[in-house]
Formats: sequence, C-alpha cells, structure tokens
Amino acid sequence: MTRWGVLGAARINQHVLEGAALAEGTSFVAIAARDRDRAQEQADTFDIGTVYGSYDELLADPGVEAVYIPLPNGLHVEWSVRALEAGKHVLCEKPLARTEAEARRAFATARSAERLLMEAFMWRHLPQTQVACDLVAQGAVGELRMIRVWFGFLLSRSGDPRLDPAQQGGALMDVGCYCVSAARLLAGEPDAVAAQAVRDAGRADGVDVRVAATMRFPGHVLAHFDCALDLPQGHGLQVVGSEAALEIDDPWFGREPGIRVRAADGTVEEIEADAADPYRAQLEDLAGAIADGRGPLLDRAEVVGQARSLQALLRAMSNDEEDVR
Ligand SMILES: NC(=O)c1ccc[n+]([C@@H]2O[C@H](COP(=O)([O-])OP(=O)(O)OC[C@H]3O[C@@H](n4cnc5c(N)ncnc54)[C@H](OP(=O)(O)O)[C@@H]3O)[C@@H](O)[C@H]2O)c1
Repeated sequence: MTRWGVLGAARINQHVLEGAALAEGTSFVAIAARDRDRAQEQADTFDIGTVYGSYDELLADPGVEAVYIPLPNGLHVEWSVRALEAGKHVLCEKPLARTEAEARRAFATARSAERLLMEAFMWRHLPQTQVACDLVAQGAVGELRMIRVWFGFLLSRSGDPRLDPAQQGGALMDVGCYCVSAARLLAGEPDAVAAQAVRDAGRADGVDVRVAATMRFPGHVLAHFDCALDLPQGHGLQVVGSEAALEIDDPWFGREPGIRVRAADGTVEEIEADAADPYRAQLEDLAGAIADGRGPLLDRAEVVGQARSLQALLRAMSNDEEDVR
C-alpha cells in the first residue's frame, strides 16, 4: 500500500481523490494547503487523516511516501523537485514543464533521489487510448497521414491561474498539451511546428486563450490541433490514414468510450473500449511501479519529449509573423 499526500486543496482533487478511494495499493493519508481550513474540508470529505497548513510540513512527514501535485503550472517543477529531494515519489499534474531543460532537471532529481516521477496525463491510462493505438499500429487506417485533434472550453472563473502568465497559464499549457500528447503518442516526436495564438484581452503580454497549430512528424505525417479557453466545450480526435479515419468523440475523459473507423467507402465500424476511471488508473499505475520497481506508463523520455514540443510551440506562437498583405 503506497501512502500518499497531496499539496494544495485544488479543485481537481475531487476527481483524483474519488479515484483514489477505488484504487488498489493507494491510500491518501495527508493533505496540505496554504489555508489549513480548506485542507481540512477536503480531508473530512475524503477521510484523510492528517492535515497540514504548509506544503513543507507535509514533505517532512516520514509517513508519506508519494505526493500528488495539483498546483498551478508555474509551481510544478519547483514542488516536484522539492518533494523528490524530500524522498517522495511524485505524480505531478500536467504539464510538468514548458521547457525541455526544466523537465530534465526534474528527472535528474528523481534519478539522484532514486524516486519515481510521473506526469498526470490521465487520458493515457484509458483503455480507449490503448485500443486506438493498437488499431493504428495494426493498420486499421492504412498508412498514417494526418492527425486532427482539439480541446477547448469556456473559462469563466475570474482570477484563475490559467489566465496568469506568471503561473504559466494559457490554452496550450492547459488543454493544448493533451492534443500534443495525442499527436506524439501516435506519430512520435515532431520535426517542426508552427502556431498562431490569440492573447487574453488582445494584450501582447496576456496568456494565449486560443491557439491553432501544426506539427510535422517523420514519415510525412502531419498533425493540426486547436485549443482554447474561450470557446464552448469541445473535444475530439481523428486519425486519418490512406484507407480510413479513426475517430474518438471523447478522447480525454472517455466517459462514453468508443471508437469509429470510417472507411474510404463510407462504411463505419464501431469498436468498443472498456470504461475506466482514468484518475484511479494513473494512481494504480504509479503505485504499482513503486511496489514492483517497474517503470510507470509515462517515462522520462515521454515527459521530456512532451516538454520539448511545448517549448517549440510556445516559441512558434511568439515569433514574428509574416504579413499576408
Ligand atoms: N488531469 C485533469 O483532468 C486536470 C483537470 C483540471 C486541472 N488539472 C491540472 O491540475 C492543476 C490544478 O488545477 P485546478 O483547476 O484544480 O486548480 P485550482 O483549483 O486553482 O487549485 C490550484 C491549487 O494550487 C494552490 N496554489 C499554490 N500556490 C498558488 C498560487 N500562487 N496561486 C493559485 N493557487 C496556488 C492552491 O492550493 P492551496 O489550497 O494550498 O491554496 C490551489 O488549491 C493544474 O496544473 C491543471 O492543469 C488537471
């Protein structure tokens, strides 16, 4: 049984702690928040025994073996490193880092501390994701040529860290990272990227609230994605090859799992995938890795590659554009 602690009384904890209640080999024993009362509230709801009024106190607790980090993006690497240095295994919310160097730094700390570090891309743990990958690998779409993927929603909460450049907010870091993760899972590491962004309130120093981007992969595979914090909720994935297109309506949460393969002649095959709680599955994956000494599903190469792509896309979004006229 891995004994977990959580840093911050974040909203996402609701899903993760519900998943934890069902997860094998996992027990949340401590929670810390800057405001101790807010931590106490979540502790009462989820039957967590120990409450701290600071993150450092939780990291000093020898009864905590692993830490879940649901802090704003700008604090992910800092607190992952601190937790690893304190001898804890770490599950850090996505995206771990926006630069390759930061991701490498976090994994170098994990290596010297001999602890595991995993990025919490829960969609990767859905059975639907694995079924889709297997289908593409088995040639269900023919030769892979194009990936279309999107994720957007309307962010209405004022003061949300997602709108704060200092907290590494923005649509790419919040939801576009899922699109990047999907394209890389299916096509490997990109050779080149391009991107356009619309900034918060039109301010040059505002976070990106809407992005359209392209990625070019080895083997003449292209991907294009869009992501947004200012569009009605929407998501989807299409993987298009020389013979067919594979489509998933709900690739990130898999609430109603299912895959369609649409052939060139218009016939459609519906393929089932098991439903699963992805938050539970990612905890079980890391707890299993801690217990067995095997690698977790998302390893260092995967997480560093993801950060490298995000870095390139952020740079592309900031580059001067060529005027069309
Ligand atoms: N995988 C998913 O499905 C999913 C879904 C949503 C979000 N996320 C990720 O989870 C993370 C948290 O998202 P959320 O929406 O749950 O965030 P949230 O409700 O805003 O919570 C963030 C927590 O960070 C702490 N914090 C520490 N320093 C802070 C600062 N300077 N400003 C603001 N908060 C600070 C706060 O903890 P205290 O309680 O200590 O004050 C707060 O509870 C993000 O990285 C996001 O990308 C993942």
